[in-house]
Amino acid sequence: MSELIRPAKLRLGVNIDHVATIRNARGGDHPDPVRAAEIVAAVGGDGITAHLREDRRHIRDDDLARIQDATGLPLNLEMAATEEMLAIALRHKPHAACIVPERREERTTEGGLDAAGMHNHLAPVVGRLLDAGISVSLFIAPDARQIEAAMRLGAPVVELHTGEYAHACLEEGGGEARAVELRRIADMAALAAKNGIEPHAGHGLTYENVQPIAAIPQLAELNIGHYLIGEAIFCGLEQSIRRMRQLMDDAR
Ligand code: PXP
Repeated sequence: MSELIRPAKLRLGVNIDHVATIRNARGGDHPDPVRAAEIVAAVGGDGITAHLREDRRHIRDDDLARIQDATGLPLNLEMAATEEMLAIALRHKPHAACIVPERREERTTEGGLDAAGMHNHLAPVVGRLLDAGISVSLFIAPDARQIEAAMRLGAPVVELHTGEYAHACLEEGGGEARAVELRRIADMAALAAKNGIEPHAGHGLTYENVQPIAAIPQLAELNIGHYLIGEAIFCGLEQSIRRMRQLMDDAR
């Protein structure tokens, strides 16, 4: 790959949804995801990621403007491709919108977006976001068919779903599955970059599994949430972000 298109630094976007999950468990204002966003900025995180779900189980509407006002960091708004979410994105104008599939009953975003099968539904959503000056990312499985669909939709960014890789990392004797998943992610990052799409990755990344992903040279950004917030309970958010940042830098 040409040095000209090798991203200078692998950015770390910190997903702060689960600070809001803990807040919502008691219905009050504490802990405030805005305070988490300020810590991300203070320790050199590159962006804030937040998912406004249909059921508002973590981030709420009023959090978005507060997060945007709190730091100068770019906000990556994860959203389903619905009219409601599109209107919210157009009103708040985050730096980026990452379109994710969303099923009400799922615990987290369990699979990638079927960008190929949903072309006609996604095309106007992508177009209206781009027209408003919002970068668009599609959260897809590491699959050539989905990259080709992202190209047809004119998405400037794809985020490759690392959930299967993370899952394989946890399985006893899962070495082969892990290698297969890692290869798929590396190949699809290369395919995206070759076609002018900036590849990102995320989901299920931890201190233990992040380095082989961070070592993929075409990747420009990782979005990590649950593990960082979970570790923060034991060592503080500053420390958990710093440690992840160090592991990512060491892998490059
Ligand atoms: N990227 C996307 C598109 C996601 O939906 C999520 C989960 O909200 C993440 C990254 C972060 O995943 P995790 O919380 O497992 O680190």
